[in-house]
Amino acid sequence: MQITIALTKGRILKETLPLLAAAGLEPLEDIAQSRKLIFPTNQDNVRLLILRGSDVPTYVQHGAADLGVAGKDNLLEHDTSNIYEPLDLKIARCRLMTAGIKGAALPKGRIKVATKFVQSAKRYYAAQGRQADIIKLYGAMELAPLMDLADEIVDIVDTGNTLKANGLEAREHIAHISSRLIVNKASMKMKYGPINTLIERLRHVVCARETA
Ligand code: PRP
Repeated sequence: MQITIALTKGRILKETLPLLAAAGLEPLEDIAQSRKLIFPTNQDNVRLLILRGSDVPTYVQHGAADLGVAGKDNLLEHDTSNIYEPLDLKIARCRLMTAGIKGAALPKGRIKVATKFVQSAKRYYAAQGRQADIIKLYGAMELAPLMDLADEIVDIVDTGNTLKANGLEAREHIAHISSRLIVNKASMKMKYGPINTLIERLRHVVCARETA
């Protein structure tokens, strides 16, 4: 039974591979040195896909991948009706926050908010009872308040260095973010044995790290 796991490339991948290795799963070649997108592993029936983070939930939602490793920030933006989220891998931890120009007060009434995280932003401002026009961006959100494209941004904050370097300040906390193991619901049923074994191995690895 073939098992396909969609991984998020970049920083999350660097933290994911040691977790998988500790659970006994390793790619047969160095992913960082290759332009390939599909990688066989030391387990004959398991292969890895290397994707942009925002595409991982899509592959798993549609069953094109059985499992995935996705940031909670991306999961919050997607239809996850066909997805289980059995395990918090506790890697790539950061916060989803609002931010704006240091010391600048928000205008009264409707505000403009620039973000890559449109659904999270909509839900957040609606819950606050705040009227917000959301402007979709794909990166460098920090620039938006400086250029008067937006009054505020919604973005990932880790060290806070990017905000600081651009004269911005973090304001409200929206969500704790970390990477999650996700599973297609139909795959979970059809391929229960191997998928459950992998989940439990990873659960052990994550628990052991937490208590170390
Ligand atoms: C994220 C985020 C910020 C930065 C925050 O971008 O969008 O720009 O990290 O990190 P800091 O608080 O430690 O400075 P990322 O590097 O993930 O790249 P992205 O633009 O592709 O999201």
